[in-house]
Amino acid sequence: MNQKDDITEEMIHKQLRTKVFGKTIYYKEEIDSTNTEAKRQAAEEAGHGLLVIADRQTLGKGRRGRSWSSPKGTGIWMSLLLRPKLAANKASMLTLVTALSVAEAIFENTGLETSIKWPNDIVVNGKKVCGILTEMSADNSGILYVVIGIGVNVNTREFPEEIQAIATSLLIEKSKQTMQVCINRSGLVSDILEKLEQNYEAFLVNEDLSFLLESYNKKLANRDRQVKVLGSDGQVELSGIAKGINKEGELLVETEEGLVEVRSGEVSVRGLYGYV
Ligand code: BTN
Repeated sequence: MNQKDDITEEMIHKQLRTKVFGKTIYYKEEIDSTNTEAKRQAAEEAGHGLLVIADRQTLGKGRRGRSWSSPKGTGIWMSLLLRPKLAANKASMLTLVTALSVAEAIFENTGLETSIKWPNDIVVNGKKVCGILTEMSADNSGILYVVIGIGVNVNTREFPEEIQAIATSLLIEKSKQTMQVCINRSGLVSDILEKLEQNYEAFLVNEDLSFLLESYNKKLANRDRQVKVLGSDGQVELSGIAKGINKEGELLVETEEGLVEVRSGEVSVRGLYGYV
C-alpha cells in the first residue's frame, strides 16, 4: 500500500466520473477556508459545479461559528459551488442529500459502515468522521448560489485533545479491521462527487427528499434514541425520541406533547459524542 497520499488537481481529474461536478477544480496547497474561497469565486461569476479543494485550511469553518481542524495531508477539505434553480427554503435539504452521498461513498470506497447524526454529521463507531457546512446566497428570485463544504477526516492519526473524544478518521477506524496505512484521498473525492451528482439530480426531480428517505432513515444514528434539541443559545428546546426524517428533511421527534417536526437546531443523541 502506497504510504504517500498526495491530493492534486490532476489526480482528482484522472479519477473523476462526473458530468459537471468537479469538472472545474481550483486546488490550493493551503487556503483560509474552501467555503470562503468558493464564495469569493461565486461573487466573480464562477459556474455551477466548481470544486474548491485544499490540502490544508488555516481558517476551516464548522457549523455554528465553530472552527474546523484541517491539518495538511490528512483530510478532504473541499467545497462545491452549485447554482440550483430552487426556492431558498429548499437549500437546507441539499445538506442531507450531501450527508447521504458522503456516507454512501465512504462505504463503497472503504467498506466502513457509517451512520448519520441528523442533519449532517457522518459517524463511524460513535465518533464523527465528516462534517458538512452549507452556505447560501439568495434574493427574491431564489437561490443565487449554494456552497457545500465537506470536511472528511481521512488519514488523521491523532486529533487535538479537545476533540479526541468525539472525532475519528477513516484510517483509524479501518485499521481496527485490517492493516491499512493510507486511504487514497483523490479516489474518495471522486467517489463523493459521483454519488453527490447522482443524488442531486434525483433531488431535483421532486425538489424533496422522498427519493432518499428510506436509505437516510436506515443510517440515522438518532433513530429511536433519546435526543435533546438545542436552540441557538444552547438551551434545550425539546427532548424526546427521534423517529426519522420526513421528505422535507425535518427530524420527527416523539415528545410527551406529540410528534414534533424539528427544522433546524443542534441535536444531542444519547450515546453519541459523550451524551449519556
Ligand atoms: C461541521 O461543523 O460539522 C461542519 C464542518 C465543515 C468543514 C468543511 S472543511 C471544507 C469546508 N471549508 C470550511 O471552512 N468548512 C467546510
